[in-house]
Amino acid sequence: MTDKTNSKTPGLSRRSLLKAGFAAGAVAGTAGAARAAGDPLITEIQDWNRYLGDGVQARPYGTPSEYEANVVRRDVEWLTASTESSVNFTPLHELDGIITPNGLCFERHHGGIADINPADHRLMINGLVDSPLVFTMEDLKRFPRENRVYFLECAANSGMEWRGSQLNGCQYTHGMVHCVMYTGVPLKLILEEAGLKTNAKWVMPEGADASAMTRSIPMEKALDDCLVAFKMNGEALRPEQGYPLRLVVPGWEGNMWVKWLRRIEVGDEPWHQREETSKYTDLLENGKARRFTWVMDPKSVITSPSPQAPVSHGKGPMVISGVAWSGNGRIKRVDVSLDGGRNWKTARLDGPSLSKAMHRFYLDIDWDGSDMLIQSRAMDEHGFFQPTKNELRAARGENSIYHNNGIQTWYVKADGMVENVEVS
Ligand code: MTE
Ligand code: CO
Repeated sequence: MTDKTNSKTPGLSRRSLLKAGFAAGAVAGTAGAARAAGDPLITEIQDWNRYLGDGVQARPYGTPSEYEANVVRRDVEWLTASTESSVNFTPLHELDGIITPNGLCFERHHGGIADINPADHRLMINGLVDSPLVFTMEDLKRFPRENRVYFLECAANSGMEWRGSQLNGCQYTHGMVHCVMYTGVPLKLILEEAGLKTNAKWVMPEGADASAMTRSIPMEKALDDCLVAFKMNGEALRPEQGYPLRLVVPGWEGNMWVKWLRRIEVGDEPWHQREETSKYTDLLENGKARRFTWVMDPKSVITSPSPQAPVSHGKGPMVISGVAWSGNGRIKRVDVSLDGGRNWKTARLDGPSLSKAMHRFYLDIDWDGSDMLIQSRAMDEHGFFQPTKNELRAARGENSIYHNNGIQTWYVKADGMVENVEVS
């Protein structure tokens, strides 16, 4: 849909926001008075108040409330032929802040989830090193370790949206991203332990899963900020995320973050494996394929309102919320448009602003109840910003799948329902 005529920008002046604030207070006050007058939830004692609840240890490992049963990863069955080589998506529309809970991190496997007893896991370093080494998990935990928060985005995130709007929900259009705190050992320390030969220029991590995932990574990156991680958000990696060991390659495409990491070969040139030739390259208009697009450029999406998170409250105060990230570093600014990109407002970034991590943004508006075409546009600290989808297609053609960081549009209708549309 490219029609912009039915959109109207609600008043956005500082005065109208202040007015909205007052209105919110007044509305809450009135509703509060009405409830006190006769709402049985207030006037009658409820079961959870009358009876004792479960004691400690009813749930030795805590799980979400039964009322949150809808907050789950989801897949799209027709996308892949089998679930072992497939993907599911993070429910971005249900989350807030910048950290993805472990159980909700999207999964992308090429050969299913490897089931590995950590006691049987080994990490081998071989190739152009002074002494080839094999580490147990115990060995790795004796190196100095670090804690860092990073986003991981699959290069194929938003791939289905290249030619136009497809999937109805930010979970599906943008949910191949997660952001967690990793605990791990800098790869540099492990490579130094083995001793690098002078012609050591590349590393090739390899997974222990049935797909034996391999990728070539230049030595500068390996020595810069890569981690060999064994924990996420404080607890052991989940099996889906590579238990017991995964490579963390900050800011670079998810495919390089090898899970179930069992070997790192050191070499003097890239290996040109399947995942960096026939896959994860960008087919351009002239028929040539661009290889080694490692850095994930700045990107953002409004998570609420969005197709799976429609507006239920009618006009008045509304929180527009979303996430932004950049493989180049920190997010400096996110702009939000309510009219399909004609006018932009700078959103409020909230929470920690960490390099190569997710950032949370909000725009608090006074919705006049009319249709909106809402968009967000992220800019990182190096001045890189998100292109429109047309700008992206002009540069890269129609054939691409990977590395789509184009601006997303949601059509918010007067009745509060939201649809995935494209404004180019
Ligand atoms: N590592 C191995 N060993 N096997 C895999 O299938 N998938 C890759 C990468 N590492 C993969 C892998 C891809 S394409 C992505 S996007 C990320 O892992 C996904 O990480 P996640 O499952 O933790 O979200
Ligand atoms: Co991927």
